[in-house]
Amino acid sequence: MERMYEKKDNGVLRKVRVLAVLAILTFFVSAGSALAQMPETIQLQKTLQLPESLQKPVSLQKIVQEAYEKFRDVKDGATADYIPELAKVPADLFGVAIVTAKGEVYTAGDVDYAFSIQSVSKPFTAALVMQQQGAQAIADKIGVEPTGLKFNAILATQIIPQVSVNPLVNSGAIASVSMVQAGSADERFNKILGFFNDLSGAKLSVIEDVYKSEAATNQRNRAHGYILAASDRIYSDPMEAVDVYTKQCSIGVTAKQLAVMGATLANGGVNPVTGKRVIDSQYVPKILAIMTMAGFYNESGQWAFTAGLPAKTGVGGGIVAVVPGEMAIVGFSPRVNAAGNSVRSMKAIEYISTQLGANIFGAGK
Ligand code: DON
Repeated sequence: MERMYEKKDNGVLRKVRVLAVLAILTFFVSAGSALAQMPETIQLQKTLQLPESLQKPVSLQKIVQEAYEKFRDVKDGATADYIPELAKVPADLFGVAIVTAKGEVYTAGDVDYAFSIQSVSKPFTAALVMQQQGAQAIADKIGVEPTGLKFNAILATQIIPQVSVNPLVNSGAIASVSMVQAGSADERFNKILGFFNDLSGAKLSVIEDVYKSEAATNQRNRAHGYILAASDRIYSDPMEAVDVYTKQCSIGVTAKQLAVMGATLANGGVNPVTGKRVIDSQYVPKILAIMTMAGFYNESGQWAFTAGLPAKTGVGGGIVAVVPGEMAIVGFSPRVNAAGNSVRSMKAIEYISTQLGANIFGAGK
């Protein structure tokens, strides 16, 4: 009896063992296929272990509205006047926008006013050059080092090897424009505009008064063009490159459109509103790295310290910040500080970044 019982028991155990092995195999197979079906962003969140605040539902509309109201009355800074037309832009305009990597839009204030994109254009043109020639071409033919100096410092081109320095200061941005492959200046500009249209999902155009005003007063940028030419660090006719660069800076965007451009970076190069792939995903981290190091010129360190996000400023008052995989945060306010960075836009983005725990270096909580 004992033996029989033993035998019977062994049979049950074997069955249990077989069932257990089957169950474990089924678990791994289904877990594997579930992972394969997961959207890229969710896997990324798991890997990066984003702060909890970004994973639980927060009211982005509420945060955007709060940022707008909190800083609406700040009057620090002044509209840039070294480009005379910029001094005519109503200084009180203020808009805040978020566009997520899924294409959701949250806004407050003057988000439909078209202002000149100015230096916010620079990383996007660098992205176009990467699309055409690869990321290494930017590192080799321009450079990627921050200057710690103003955006148009001639000094930087003299003390940092290779003259053009990086694509986010004027010198490197003019070199970047000269690298856009095209048969003529018009074609080169149209390629840039077409690329910006794809990034924003809108039909953008030049604000002619701003273009004329800057073209008449851009002697310093022409000096940059000639310095680049004297050092073989420009890749088209230098004055033609300065002119196309000036036109590029005069393209009008709204805060909402700029946020879609940034959200395309946040979404790995696919415009989340139109669904079109605009930038190869391999180039996005390169662009964001340059923005992190140099997006605020001589205030890049301070910006990394406070907001902790890759971002780019423009003297027209726009700033776009990117939370990789998540969203773009945009501020627009024409009063800029001595570094040429919009005071209220900085405050609004810093506030939102802190509230969301979106700092790429960690939430510190
Ligand atoms: O070249 C210039 O001076 C202007 N078109 C752009 C400068 C700019 O936006 C500086 N950024 N804050």
